[in-house]
Amino acid sequence: MVRVGHRPSGTESRPPAVAHPRTGIPSRPVEVRPAVEDDLEQMVDAMFAEPSVEQLAFMPTIPGARAFARATWLAAGLDGFVVAEDAGEVVGFAWCSESDVSTRDALRAAAAAWGVTGPARLVMKGWPRQLVGLAMPPGPKLIELHTHPSRRGTGIGSVLLDHVVRANGDRPLSLTTRSNNPARHLYERHGFAVVAQKNSRMFERRTGSPGRVLMVRPA
Ligand SMILES: CC(C)(COP(=O)(O)OP(=O)(O)OC[C@H]1O[C@@H](n2cnc3c(N)ncnc32)[C@H](O)[C@@H]1OP(=O)(O)O)[C@@H](O)C(=O)NCCC(=O)NCCS
Repeated sequence: MVRVGHRPSGTESRPPAVAHPRTGIPSRPVEVRPAVEDDLEQMVDAMFAEPSVEQLAFMPTIPGARAFARATWLAAGLDGFVVAEDAGEVVGFAWCSESDVSTRDALRAAAAAWGVTGPARLVMKGWPRQLVGLAMPPGPKLIELHTHPSRRGTGIGSVLLDHVVRANGDRPLSLTTRSNNPARHLYERHGFAVVAQKNSRMFERRTGSPGRVLMVRPA
């Protein structure tokens, strides 16, 4: 079920920025709270303001990819989503779910976002992505983690990841990502390790990454 609501208005006095210990970039404490439908546009902004190589390679267009993401999330319901908020502004989000987005879910979202030709467009542009598909084990899965590009390197991803880990108690947590994604450092710092990798020349030609990895944080 989609939780509908309104973002609280920005706080009047913002806490002072302090330099992040690793990057030196000024950062303020952020609030992590459940996502509501009003947040969708800013969540999409965090994800697509600087499109990733995979988004560029496997989505027909970036505006199309934004509509596809919105349709996927609304179909899934927003219960597994949390946002990081700073003074009323959504600066990042995480999506954790017991089930990964299936091919059927993706085709339905493509139809909802792009009309009847949507599923065919998704398959034509996105098929090389299937060559590096890795099944995640049963249990909670981190499907998305994004910080708005203007706020990266200030600890927001870590705060969101800590929240997701805590919210899942002592259950193992899985995710998949591009094998050359620098985010791997962040995950390793939070106890995740690579347990499988799938490579494909075609995927590498399109993205510059040899493949994708499955990372698990044990209980
Ligand atoms: C991954 C991501 C959520 C990290 O968010 P963040 O708010 O910058 O995270 P933090 O400030 O807490 O920590 C930054 C960490 O991200 C890593 N990182 C991720 N992408 C990076 C990049 N492009 N350049 C440099 N470092 C990057 C760094 O290694 C750093 O870890 P370290 O401090 O151990 O070196 C953010 O970079 C992002 O939205 N990236 C694009 C989407 C993505 O790749 N998501 C993960 C896919 S599964």
